[in-house]
Amino acid sequence: MRLLVLGTGMMAKSQVAGFLAIDGVEVVGAVDTDRTRLDEFADHFNIEKRFGTLDEAIAWGRFDAATNVTPDRVHHATSLALIAAGKHVFCEKPLAENYAHALEMTEAAEVAGVINMVNLTYRNVAPLQRAREMVLSGELGTIKHVEASYLQSWLVSRAWGDWRTESRWLWRLSTGHGSNGVLGDVGIHILDFAAYGAATDIDHVFARLKTFNKAPGGQIGEYMLDANDSFTMSVDFANGALGVIHATRWATGHLNELKLRIYGEKGSLEVIHRPNGSDLRGCFGEDIESATWRDIDVLPVLTNYQRFAEAVRTGKQDDPTFRHAANLQKVIDLAIVSEKERREFNLLAADTPESTVGGQEPESKGDEQGPALALVV
Ligand SMILES: NC(=O)c1ccc[n+]([C@@H]2O[C@H](COP(=O)([O-])OP(=O)(O)OC[C@H]3O[C@@H](n4cnc5c(N)ncnc54)[C@H](O)[C@@H]3O)[C@@H](O)[C@H]2O)c1
Repeated sequence: MRLLVLGTGMMAKSQVAGFLAIDGVEVVGAVDTDRTRLDEFADHFNIEKRFGTLDEAIAWGRFDAATNVTPDRVHHATSLALIAAGKHVFCEKPLAENYAHALEMTEAAEVAGVINMVNLTYRNVAPLQRAREMVLSGELGTIKHVEASYLQSWLVSRAWGDWRTESRWLWRLSTGHGSNGVLGDVGIHILDFAAYGAATDIDHVFARLKTFNKAPGGQIGEYMLDANDSFTMSVDFANGALGVIHATRWATGHLNELKLRIYGEKGSLEVIHRPNGSDLRGCFGEDIESATWRDIDVLPVLTNYQRFAEAVRTGKQDDPTFRHAANLQKVIDLAIVSEKERREFNLLAADTPESTVGGQEPESKGDEQGPALALVV
């Protein structure tokens, strides 16, 4: 696969290191609107072809696929341009800023017949895949309750850099810069983690979002710090289980931790992923009486990068697809409306509000509303 990298910031470094480790993958070009960042990146990875705009790269055209590692608000227009040029697209999460855009990207990719995948990174967590298999094989029995959390602390620590001065953090705090806050940024990961691990779909959502004051006047330079920092969500799953899902950037003492607990009639599972590794524990059989939890062994799994490269090679679409990410985007959009209107939404019902499609700018997107849809994991 001849791969183009679009956006050469923080995540692109990790992505390209992953892609270059795969046999048969060549990174043949890089694009960034910031020339300094582009040159540093291309020098580091020894990439010869460098472009200041995607249009120039498409005009050159000598690549099979692109990985879109631009900020969230840039994904929509750039992915559509790549799809129109017949290129396979691996897009960073969240797929778009809102469901309407995500759906448009999905339909364009499906009509064009190009491979389309979204980097829901935590699919790479082997214990998550094992947990899903155990749920699907019936080992837990009927699932009754699910709890999932995504905890980060970068608003109270400098472990990843200083959000007060660095644009790569500031755009994540500002709706005007295309961010849906912690909900859009890592909420998409934990929604996927919960629904994928529990092997079901979210069909009802009620959410509370909170934006804490972080700077005088709620602003730093051009960035209005108005995107949510914390959310709590109660959900119903299609399998009948009830769930709580939450995330925050204020989890002092947790750099990056995802946790999923799935409680079934015959047993329970806990998946924990932290920067230093992942674990799966379970409580089954006689252990239920003494509430004894035991470690469960897991086998390594393929990464999203490996599965995208294989999908391009074979022409066979793999997960997570644009459509799956669009479905999760709908949960996010509805969570935002839920906070505004303080009411619950049924994702399968026809009563999804018009504002669902526009995220935090409902009035501008009213004519683009797609149909209510069932979530399919
Ligand atoms: N999957 C994950 O776990 C994960 C982790 C971190 C970030 N991300 C996602 O990756 C994406 C990028 O995040 P980041 O942290 O690398 O951001 P970043 O700000 O560090 O990098 C983005 C880069 O894109 C460039 N850019 C902006 N507009 C462009 C355009 N029109 N054409 C070409 N280049 C353009 C910027 O100059 C910058 O170099 C975001 O969507 C983010 O949500 C995903």
